[in-house]
Amino acid sequence: MPNHLRLKFPKNFLWGAATSAHQVEGGLHNQWTIWELKNATSLAARAPYLYDDLESWGAIKVAAKRPHSYVSGRAADHYRLFEQDIELVHQLNMNAFRFSVEWSRVQPDMDTWNKDAIDHYRRVLAACKKRGIEPIVTLFHFTLPEWFSELGGFEHGSNVHYFVDYAERVLRELGPSVRYVITINEPEVYAAESYLHAAWPPQQQSRRQWLCVLHNLIKAHNQLAKRIHGMSRRYRVSITKNSSYIYPGDDSWLSVRAAAVMQYWRDDFLLRRVIKQCDFIGLNYYFSDRVYGYRVHNPSDRVNDVGWNMQPDNLTRALERLYEAYQIPILITENGLADAADTDRQWWLGQTVLAMQRALDKGIVLIGYLHWSLLDNFEWDKGFWPRFGLFAVDYATMQRTPRKSAIWFSRLIKKARNGG
Ligand code: BGC
Repeated sequence: MPNHLRLKFPKNFLWGAATSAHQVEGGLHNQWTIWELKNATSLAARAPYLYDDLESWGAIKVAAKRPHSYVSGRAADHYRLFEQDIELVHQLNMNAFRFSVEWSRVQPDMDTWNKDAIDHYRRVLAACKKRGIEPIVTLFHFTLPEWFSELGGFEHGSNVHYFVDYAERVLRELGPSVRYVITINEPEVYAAESYLHAAWPPQQQSRRQWLCVLHNLIKAHNQLAKRIHGMSRRYRVSITKNSSYIYPGDDSWLSVRAAAVMQYWRDDFLLRRVIKQCDFIGLNYYFSDRVYGYRVHNPSDRVNDVGWNMQPDNLTRALERLYEAYQIPILITENGLADAADTDRQWWLGQTVLAMQRALDKGIVLIGYLHWSLLDNFEWDKGFWPRFGLFAVDYATMQRTPRKSAIWFSRLIKKARNGG
């Protein structure tokens, strides 16, 4: 990105980073930790078959083949080091931080409410407030308490109220410093990975179950958002939507139609069912999909460590499309890349900032940008080897080291916040 470029971002634009409890906190017991312990050996054993054609394989193979890499364990020890980590957010010149409240900590059994866990998250909020950082609180980010998962989790509509009641109470107890709330992170990703692709717990493969879970998550969001709005109008509520920009690779009728249909299923099927209960759209953007005929065929010239093609500039188009369709503000709740060697992150960030600037210039109302992620973290069924952090984490010492791109980004944020 050219250094002389003038940035014109709104004064109150949120510049921040995002995390989720299971991926950084450590010391958890939930449906995921139970699953990890059972599956770590097989996840490690299948790594060479899944990943050995990645460009990054040479660098990642030792970690990817170790069962230990697939057990979240202490993660990045963020539960203990949260104050220090929020100070890192501040050092990056950021003014926003997204984190999730871990349900299994707060309500470890159906009848137990853990006040210490609530106090912890109050301290997290206080650490943000002290530094002028706007918290963005996620209430469900893929992990369930064991008791809820044993009841069938979101498979049954009759279980939805457990989550809604829990989440409402959490917000009441966290108090007035919370404004931005994400009820559910990527409902469609959770439903598909867990009930259609059988990649995540409980590893089911049933179209019926998948649609049922999706339906119940929609219901959960709508019910919860209504309750939250009933509590106070200060709340700004949404889900996060994992979206890719899907575009035809040529102008044949089939490619154009197929891309439009795929985009509908990717985004609109879900968004249309929750949008009335959203004050903004939480957008998680990582990649685009290029369609030829009825198939996705992505350019493979620039891919990140997990093999996702990198087209950061298409963010403008993703924003344009969503804004045109729904006409409500958008907050980029996740965006980033796995890049252990930090070779592409600065380029990615620069392109992303330009893409946001173009969107703002076109009149799109953009609330902010949250980079995924503040720290290296536990990447679900891929374990610890993908490195998404602005800060590298040494998992032996828990030392955090800013990547060069993070330092560069912090200067850019400073410039943007000072009026460009
Ligand atoms: C999820 C994160 C995840 C990230 C990178 C998003 O789908 O919300 O939990 O780490 O993508 O894969």
